[in-house]
This record gives sequence, C-alpha cells and structure tokens, in this order.
Amino acid sequence: MKDILQKLEDNRDAARLGGGQKRIDAQHDKGKLTARERIELLLDEGSFEEFDMFKTHRCTDFGMEKNRPYGDGVVTGWGTINGRQVYVFSQDFTVLGGSVSQTHAQKICKIMDMAVQNGAPVIGINDSGGARIQEGVDSLAGYGDVFERNIRASGVVPQISVIMGPCAGGAVYSPAMTDFIFMVKDSSYMFVTGPDVVKTVTNEQVTAEELGGAATHTKKSSVADAAFENDVEALAEVRRLVDFLPLSNREKPPVRPFFDTPTREEASLDTLIPDNPNQPYDMKELILKIADEGDFYEIQEEFAANIITGFMRLEGQTVGVVANQPMVLAGVLDIDSSRKAARFVRFCDAFEIPILTLVDVPGFLPGTGQEYRGVIKHGAKLLFAYGEATVPKVTVITRKAYGGAYVVMASKHLRADINYAWPTSEIAVMGAKGATEIIHRGDLGDEEKIAAHTKDYEDRFANPFVAAERGFIDEVIMPHSTRKRVSRAFASLRSKKQAMPWKKHDNIPL
Ligand code: HXC
Repeated sequence: MKDILQKLEDNRDAARLGGGQKRIDAQHDKGKLTARERIELLLDEGSFEEFDMFKTHRCTDFGMEKNRPYGDGVVTGWGTINGRQVYVFSQDFTVLGGSVSQTHAQKICKIMDMAVQNGAPVIGINDSGGARIQEGVDSLAGYGDVFERNIRASGVVPQISVIMGPCAGGAVYSPAMTDFIFMVKDSSYMFVTGPDVVKTVTNEQVTAEELGGAATHTKKSSVADAAFENDVEALAEVRRLVDFLPLSNREKPPVRPFFDTPTREEASLDTLIPDNPNQPYDMKELILKIADEGDFYEIQEEFAANIITGFMRLEGQTVGVVANQPMVLAGVLDIDSSRKAARFVRFCDAFEIPILTLVDVPGFLPGTGQEYRGVIKHGAKLLFAYGEATVPKVTVITRKAYGGAYVVMASKHLRADINYAWPTSEIAVMGAKGATEIIHRGDLGDEEKIAAHTKDYEDRFANPFVAAERGFIDEVIMPHSTRKRVSRAFASLRSKKQAMPWKKHDNIPL
C-alpha cells in the first residue's frame, strides 16, 4: 500500500514539473510565471482542486507516442477567489509549447461544462503555441469544441481571458468570445496571422509587439480590456474584477461590507461644472465621489476615453458605470465610444448589474470619417443596448444632453428608471449657438440679433426644467447630494422586474 501511495506522489511530482526544470527556467527567464504558479497567485491559498492531472494525448504521428507528458500542456480545475468559486485553466508553455491537442481541449471543455452547470465563472490563462502541429485536424476539432463552449457559456457565467504569452491564429477566437481580456505588457501577443505571413501577403513589415502586443490591443483595436506590467499584477487585477461580478446569471452580484456613508455629501461637486460651457472638467472626479470609498474599476481605460466604463459599489452593491468624459473630444459619442459602452451595457444587463449613466454629451461626432465607417450602425448599438437592458437604470445629467445622444444615454424614453439632472443641465436638440444659426439664418451677420436669439434659446432650453416639466427628468438635484440620491435610487430598485416580449433573440445592429 505504501508503495502505491509513493507511486502516486511520484507521478504527481512528475506532472507538477511540466516540461522539466530547464523549460521552467526558460519561462522564468522571459519574465513569465509557470502555469501552476499563475494558478497559485490567482486563487485563494490552498483552494485549488485539480482535474485530469494525468491526462495525456493519444497522438502516434511524428514519434509523439514517445513524448506523452502528464497533463498535456494545460492545468485545469477549480478553486476560490475571496471564498467564491471559479473554474480555471492555465496553459503550460513548458509542455509542448502549451499547444492545443484534442485531449488538451477536452480538459478545457470539461471545466467549462462544469462551470456552466454549477454556475461559476471561467478564467482562462492563455500561453500557447496554438494548434498542436503534430495532430492536425484533431487539434482544430478541439479548438472548435472550446469555441462552442465559449458561445454556450456567454451570458450564463462570466468568462475572463488572461493572455500571458503567444495567442495566435484561430486560437485568438476563444478569448475574443469571452467577456474580458487582460494582457501582460511585453510578454503577450494576439494576432490572426503573425508578422511573417503579414510580410508575405501584404509586404508590410511589423513586429509581433506592434501587430498584436498589449499596447496595440488596449489602445488601437480594443480587443483587450486592460494591460498590466507583469503576471503578478495581472492576476491580482483579475481577482479584483471577480469580486465585482456575480458567479452566474442565476445569482445577484456579491454584496461587500462597505465603510462609507450612503448619505455622504460632496460640497466640491457644486462647483465641478465650469461657468464656460465649452470648458471641460474631469467626469472621473464625479465617479470617484459617488463610489463607496472612492473605488472604481475601469474597463478599457485606454480606448475611446471620451466614454468611461467600469464598476463601482454603492452601499456595497456592484453598479456598472457609463459616463461621458468632457476631457476627451468634449465627451462626444462616436463609433469607438458607442461600441465600447454598448458592449459594457450588455455585459451588465446579462449579469444583473444595475447601470449608472452620467451624461455630458454634445452629440454624435459629425463627418465623413464617422459616416463612411458606419456611425449610424455603431451608434445604434448603444441605443439598442440601453433600450433592451432591463436591469435598474439610473441616469444623472450633469451638463449637456443634446440631440440623439440625449435619447441614447439612458434617457427616460429608453425605460431608464430614475433620471436626475443637475441644475447646470442643458437638455436640447443642440447647443444654443448652432440652433440659432439654423432657425434664424436670415439674421446671420447681425451680431446683436444673433446674440439675442442665442440668449433666448439658452433661456428656454439650456436648463433641465423643460424636461422636468414633462416628466422626462424625475428630479433636479443638488450636485453635492448626488451620492445620496443615486444610492437611494438604486436601493428603491432592488426588486425591479421588467419583461421583454418573447423572442428567440434580438437582432442588435452588429
Ligand atoms: C507543437 C509546439 C507548437 C505547436 C510550439 N511548440 N508551438 N509544438 N505544436 N503549435 C513547441 C516547440 O516545438 C518547442 O518544443 C516548444 O513548444 C517551445 O517552442 P519554442 O519555439 O522553443 O519557443 P519560442 O521560441 O518561445 O517560440 C514560441 C512560438 C513558436 C512563437 C509560439 O513556438 C511558434 O511559432 N510555434 C508555432 C506556432 C504556430 O504556427 N501554431 C499554429 C498556429 S495556427 P521543444 O521540445 O523544443 O521545447 C493555430 C490554428 C488554431 O493555432 C485554429 C483554431 C480554429
């Protein structure tokens, strides 16, 4: 009996060593942790339960029958993050380059099926040379099986991808279908075809970093949601994100203890809006002053910064925040910001996370640059996402809410529940100057008349009271009381139930 126990321990040791000490050292030399070290940092200490440690591939081509390492290049199982269950897979680059065989894929599929069945998030740590070249189509079939799981799990359990090494070719499409993608600076990349193929096909010369590094995907393509300095920081941030999320669409988001007064007043907010309507101010100041303990978890901070998206807590409850940022492009809605915010709103709605919308928007960005690339369709994504969202929706207009953008930004007309406006709000079809130049075109050139018309328009519309008279605004509130008003608004909506007509699924303008 003792011998058998010892044999199990020896086999476990062999499995834990992955591709061997030399390859582990090589991994460390690249500034990367191993698959198991990453899991240890991600999960609560001692909470990891591993599955399929001894699974091996069954390939017999190219001498592979002599190279059958335990685990087949991926470590899978479940554990906890601050006591809450998550499923995890972590590709082991030291074993055959973390390449995906059919059995490797089966291990991933197994934990994804369990995650959906048991209602817990899936976190995938990607570090792989892609399809196992020796296996051919069997490997592709394995990828296909994972993709299908990603689709089935979407909207059922949160899926988070962490890219910590190569992720190329069709392999990128699994992370692409998950809810959040994190990357590590200088050691991870994602692309559909690598620099060599790019050179052959398009004659373009580009490095792997330029083509698909963390900066490219967080600033240009928006494929990734955030990039971190190293593995340790990235995994700590995943833990922080998971703390905001429900385990599945069957559960409410977690409620954390909070150490902040819901009725806290912020006198400085009464002077946040500058006297000059064209002068920007930092919307993040308002977000931080509303949030419990000033804690805000921003998503896609480096992309389309004219809109801010992220999570805060109010009275310990998770709230998704969407806010125009007057500091960048005057907070205008354009293709990128509409896409960014629409995807965020849909995530929140899928997982029962209430949405707070802070509005200061001068409209949609005009011009051929936007129209030729389809701002109509992309802007409609945000409109659609807000309109279909049935979670509690609370909106605060701080300053401009012009034209179509007013309607889009969680207005009453899209079934927002509680719509507040600061006294500094201007709710109108457009700015007073532009409006005057259209409706009093005949007076153009007569500065005095134009000034009088502009003043007249401002008096009528550059305020929240016309909208309030019609009930489109529920209350005009004091800026300093925003945290209190918004907290109470969400508290009043905790049992909200809203139905949509039956449909197979909608047809959001993709
Ligand atoms: C089998 C692989 C492998 C793969 C790497 N290895 N990729 N084995 N299949 N796809 C093995 C290497 O042979 C090596 O084995 C070990 O992993 C480490 O690889 P190195 O090349 O030494 O590492 P490095 O220099 O860091 O380069 C990493 C790399 C490179 C850039 C990922 O290995 C590479 O280009 N691999 C091939 C990538 C590729 O073309 N994959 C197919 C993509 S198409 P030893 O024994 O020497 O340690 C795809 C389609 C998916 O994935 C479709 C889904 C629908």
